[in-house]
This record gives sequence, structure tokens and C-alpha cells, in this order.
Amino acid sequence: MSAKLIKGTEIREEILEEIMAEVAEIKDKHGVVPGLVTILVGENPASISYVTLKIKTAHRLGFTEVQDTQPVDISEEDLLALIDKYNNDESINGILVQLPLPKHVDEKKVLNAIDPDKDVDGFHPVNVGRLMIGGDEVKFPPCTPAGIQEMIIRAGVETKGAEVVVVGRSNIVGKPIANMMLQKGVGANSTVTVVHTGTQDLAAHCKRADILIVAAGVPDLVKPEWIKPGACVIDVGVNRVGEKVSEKTGKTIAILKGDVDFDAAKEIAGSITPVPGGVGPMTITMLMKNTLKSLKFKLGIA
Ligand code: GUN
Repeated sequence: MSAKLIKGTEIREEILEEIMAEVAEIKDKHGVVPGLVTILVGENPASISYVTLKIKTAHRLGFTEVQDTQPVDISEEDLLALIDKYNNDESINGILVQLPLPKHVDEKKVLNAIDPDKDVDGFHPVNVGRLMIGGDEVKFPPCTPAGIQEMIIRAGVETKGAEVVVVGRSNIVGKPIANMMLQKGVGANSTVTVVHTGTQDLAAHCKRADILIVAAGVPDLVKPEWIKPGACVIDVGVNRVGEKVSEKTGKTIAILKGDVDFDAAKEIAGSITPVPGGVGPMTITMLMKNTLKSLKFKLGIA
């Protein structure tokens, strides 16, 4: 193994400690704590486990946390009314509607109904626009890209002038991280290329990358020979490729694989994120950071 492992599980703990200290200070000075509501529609097992973890983390940090679970057949009108209720709730700084939503609900309409100043997911078009402008305009960077950038910074990887190649163009990861890495400022100022299913020669682009960010959702897509020796490799893929019985708990759990052939890539890269335990833990961490930020904006101390 030559590559340095960039462990999301460790960086998460550092950031959560920082958030906890800030929460205590704000509580002391202003008598308030951040408030987060997660709205879950239906009983999708993956969504339940994500939401449970979000609420548990918020609780650990001393936030006010509300888990609002709604039946799978809730009408769009009722869901919009629920969002309106939390938009007007002074104790709530962050509203998260867990995706995916059932087919009969228009996801776009729902996300657009969230007050942009409480949109801690950063999915509202206003926040997408703010991200595009960059600098002081940015309020809530979307959580997974924000986590990726934070990992790159804390791993001490130089981004200024670096060739960054992003594999994937999703609205949640590929497009926003590409945008963030090209802005001026810390952990950015890079030359960015985005490659996708329409790209003619994926390998040729990846081979140029000083920082390779892969969010394609295809297990083992990136081959070791696509990696420039010494590059920083960020693997966002979480692909369920089977099941196994956990040695710790005896429960059946998913076998997860990234988008990068990790075992081979770690011999070539300079630093690399594992799957699991890499980017995954950072997403919820940045959600907490955005919720704290939302309260700080409200108090005029951000
Ligand atoms: N479902 C999967 N990932 C996410 C996320 O980051 N935010 C929301 N709201 N739903 C998701």
C-alpha cells in the first residue's frame, strides 16, 4: 500500500467536535441551538437508515431535531403544507426532505417549496445559483461536494492550479463539485474537466488528473492504469454488490464497492478514500455544518 488513506470517519469526528464547540458557545451567548427537521415519506429502508443517522448525529451535537415521518400516500398538497409549516417555524433552521419521493409527488415542486434560507441540502435553485456565483454568495454548498472539498483540504492536497477531473455530471455531486473546484479560494482554484457517459475517451482524461473525483455509480469503473502516479483519488461511489453477515452484529449487511478498483488503485495513487468509510460519513457531517451555518446567518454571526 503506497497511498495515504483519507478517512472520512476520522475527519468527521474532527468536524463534529468543532461544531459541538460552536453550538455550546452560541447557546451560551444567544440562548438558542440549531434546529433540523428531516421529512421522510414512506418506508424505503435505505432512506430510513440515512434519516435515522442524520437525526442521531443532530441529537449528539445538541441540536433540536425533529423526525417527521409521513405515509407513502401523503398528497403533494399536504406535503407542501408541511414544508410551509416548517418554513415558518422559528425553532427550525434546516429542512431536509429525504429523497427519493414517491412517484405521485413532484420532487422539483417539493424542493422548490423549501425556504432557500433553510435549504441545508443546497438543492433549491436559489442555492444552486449562489454556488455558481461563488465567494460570499454561497450559503449552503450541497453536502456531498462540501464533504469532498473538506476532505481534500484536510488531507493537505494542493488544489491551486491542479488538474481536477470529475467523473459524473449529477446535480447532487458531479456538477456542484466541478463548480466548487473552479472557484477562487481555499481548496479550489483548480482547472476542472467533467467527463460523463458522452465522453469519448474517459481513460485519457482521468490519466491527466492530479485530483480524480469519481461519482459515476458504476462499480470498479476506474482502472488502476487510469490513475496518474501520486494523484489524489476521491471515490464517491457506494454500490451495493451483494450481502454478507456482519462479524460484529450477526446481521445481514450490504457489501459495498466504490467506483474505483481500490485494491489496485491504492498502489498508484498518492492518497485515496476508502469505500465504505470515505466520502460517505462526510455527507451527514456537512449537513450538520450547514444547519449550524443557517442559525449563524439568522443571528448575523456567520
Ligand atoms: N437521498 C440520498 N442522498 C440524499 C441527500 O443528500 N439529501 C436528501 N434530501 N436526500 C437524499
